[in-house]
Order: sequence, then C-alpha cells, then structure tokens
Amino acid sequence: MSQKVIIAIDGPAASGKGTLAKRLAEHLGVPYLDTGLLYRAVARDVVARGQRLEDCDAAVCAAKAIDAQSLGDPGLRGPLAGDAASIVAKIPEVRAALLEYQRGFASESVRGAILDGRDIGTVVCPNAHIKIFVTASDEARARRRHLEHEGRGEMIPYEQVLEDLRRRDARDKGRSIAPLEAASDALIVDTTDLDKEQAFATVLCLVEKRLQT
Ligand code: DC
Repeated sequence: MSQKVIIAIDGPAASGKGTLAKRLAEHLGVPYLDTGLLYRAVARDVVARGQRLEDCDAAVCAAKAIDAQSLGDPGLRGPLAGDAASIVAKIPEVRAALLEYQRGFASESVRGAILDGRDIGTVVCPNAHIKIFVTASDEARARRRHLEHEGRGEMIPYEQVLEDLRRRDARDKGRSIAPLEAASDALIVDTTDLDKEQAFATVLCLVEKRLQT
C-alpha cells in the first residue's frame, strides 16, 4: 500500500467486524483501533468510581481522562462491559470527548489505519477511503456469541444471548447521536452464511479492488 488509506469498519455486536478489522490491519501492516474498547473503558471507569452509567458528568469525566494504556484490560471484553458501554455511548458529550482520540489515531499514522465501531464511516472518519459495514442475522450473531461463552465455560442460554444482542442493537441504533448505521457509501458484507475464512476473503477482495481504483 503506497498511499495513506483509512478504512472504516462498522457493524453491530458479534457481526465479526472486530476479527475482520484486526486481521485486515495485520495483513496490510497498518495500526488498528477497536473503538468499542474506548466506550467499554469509560463504562468500567464510571463503575469503578461507584457512579451510575447514566450519570452524564461522571461518564464525560471518565471519557476525558481515558488512558490508552488501559485498553488492553481483559475485563473490557465480556458482554456486561459491552452492554454498559452501550449505555455511556448514548451520551453526546461522551462521544464528543472520544471523537478527538479516534480522529487523532486515524491521522497520526503515515501508512493509514483501520478503525472499527458503529459510527466510523458516518461520523469519525466520514472521508475514509474504504467503508465496510459488516452485518449478519440476529440468530447467526447470537449463535456465535453463545459458542464463545461456552468456550469460556459461561453457561448463558442461547435465548438470553439473542435477547441481549437485540437490546444492545436497539440501543445503538435508536440513540439520537451517531447511531449504528451504514454510511451511504459503505460496502455491505453479510457474514450470516460465511465462516471466518470466507468472510476475510470477501473483505480482502473488496479492499484490494478499491485500492486498485
Ligand atoms: O464494538 P463493541 O461491542 O465493543 O462496542 C461496545 C459498545 O460501545 C456498543 O454497543 C456501542 C458503543 N460503541 C459506539 O457507540 N460507537 C463506536 N464507535 C464503538 C462502540
């Protein structure tokens, strides 16, 4: 890749966007930012201070003080952290505080960057060279999440996983600011019937085609 390329990858929870984005970044040799981790870290820090997730001042304070070093915390990965993140993500001032960090990440690498999230193609990097919206049916996403839970020995019923995903999607799509949606110029990749290899091959093919134009 000779020119600087910003790639925005958005999609709902468990669509596979994170795995695809990370692998694509490794393949292209560019830095990768999982922006969901920022919202997860804000929620973690609010709770750690004994405050409520809906407390706007507490969440904004945590967002302004976000520490990039703490994003590797394995405690950020679970479904409870994702749900909590989706609550603080509704607060416009939290989004504004995190916007600068995300744009800084995208602009600072000379080779370009890949960011994944919910609003990368629409708000964070509206001028991204390539925008991909990864999606999959509710049931396929819930099945994947359920298997991941089982793999970690967490016995959460499939129906509950499905319900939790739908609730989070509704919150992410229904918020007044930067809702989860595909940018009008995004390439849509539906991974419902694709395994990980097929999904990656599909995305790579789209990206390589775009890079040649
Ligand atoms: O991608 P994830 O599941 O780690 O994201 C957790 C929550 O963070 C998600 O439900 C909504 C919020 N989020 C967001 O609002 N905007 C982003 N760019 C990334 C995540």
